[in-house]
Amino acid sequence: MRVVVTGGLGFIGSAVVRHLITNTDHEVLNVDKITYAATEGSVASVAADPRYRHVAVDIVDAEAVRVAIEEFDPDGFIHLAAESHVDRSIDGPREFIMTNVVGTYELLQAARHHADRSGRGDGLRFLHVSTDEVFGTLSATDAPFDENSPYAPTSPYSASKAASDHLVRAWHETFGLSTIITNCSNNYGPFHFPEKLIPLMIVKALRHQPLPVYGAGDNVRDWLFVEDHARAIVRAFEAGRPGQTYAIGGNAERTNLDVVQAICDLLDHEAGPGASPRRELIQFVTDRPGHDLRYAIDASKASTELGWIPSLTFEDGLARTVRWYLENEWWWQPLLGERYEGQRLGVTGS
Ligand code: NAD
Ligand code: DAU
Repeated sequence: MRVVVTGGLGFIGSAVVRHLITNTDHEVLNVDKITYAATEGSVASVAADPRYRHVAVDIVDAEAVRVAIEEFDPDGFIHLAAESHVDRSIDGPREFIMTNVVGTYELLQAARHHADRSGRGDGLRFLHVSTDEVFGTLSATDAPFDENSPYAPTSPYSASKAASDHLVRAWHETFGLSTIITNCSNNYGPFHFPEKLIPLMIVKALRHQPLPVYGAGDNVRDWLFVEDHARAIVRAFEAGRPGQTYAIGGNAERTNLDVVQAICDLLDHEAGPGASPRRELIQFVTDRPGHDLRYAIDASKASTELGWIPSLTFEDGLARTVRWYLENEWWWQPLLGERYEGQRLGVTGS
């Protein structure tokens, strides 16, 4: 198949691109505008493959999207392009509305018209990659989110993703586009931009800088290794039922404090005896406004219908991730100087 992947220079999109080129015969057109979160190094291992191409197109730009799609003539779409950082959505929500809502709308329109024009009709597939954050927050004792959880987003980011999910469902029901939605929990792994919890703590701890833990560090996230998510996305794209939603998660709930302490211990172990314990760098700082307490996913539908389960435990995945950051400073070091220096985000609001 010829597959348009949007956001394929980002963290998860690049894992999807690497997976498609390495493990399938599909051709890929990577539609990525190249925001601050994009890195070409994340697809360097497959960029020379003749089945891979990138175009620097903004999905909000309907005409540019139309031209790229007409030229490539895709059989399907895997849509990941988004503004993805909750803290940045507090500082500046506008880009989130533009890309996540308007951009998804433009892409749905382009896919719908391409399905009609090319004669593929409902044979053209559209996989929308979304998040568990659209369901809001769980209490400590609530059952995990699943496909029937009500939408209750709490941040500008999650509200924009919820809006995009609703558009995708509407384009299936109203226009017959063969859409599938995945709602996934927190990802971690290689090529993760060092603004999110795990990579930020790794690069700060490596440089012996303070480790800012929001609130009391007792918020819970359900962590999934990014390459397991990429496998789930491609499996849902190939075998998911149109009109369906699949909840994807790592079955690995951890408090933020547990995660940061585990990173400190892994780095101390790598450094050997004598270094001062990195747990001493942890500082509790002002909480994130509207901070969701807990996310967790029941992924049994994905397991039963798609035959997908995570391949790594959180402990193995985190050890692999820490080692990757130690060995790949070429990738993350330039980002700190040029794009983001690790300062606190998401407390100003605008
Ligand atoms: P990311 O921020 O790392 O990457 C986003 C990519 O999209 C970047 O390469 C960027 O250049 C591109 N992009 C942004 N705006 C664009 C536009 N207008 N036009 C074209 N390209 C644009 O994001 P990520 O963490 O890889 O997340 C990818 C998707 O997965 C998002 O839709 C996100 O909501 C979803 N998701 C993320 C997680 C997570 O833990 N990171 C979990 C579940 C779902
Ligand atoms: O659940 C899926 C979502 O996971 C995705 O949809 C988002 O795109 C992705 O960014 C992620 O959202 P979170 O807000 O959960 O991720 P983040 O890494 O920003 O924060 C994880 C937790 O760690 C959260 O409770 C806030 C906390 N945190 C974060 C940072 C950056 C800190 O305590 N300190 C920090 O410096």
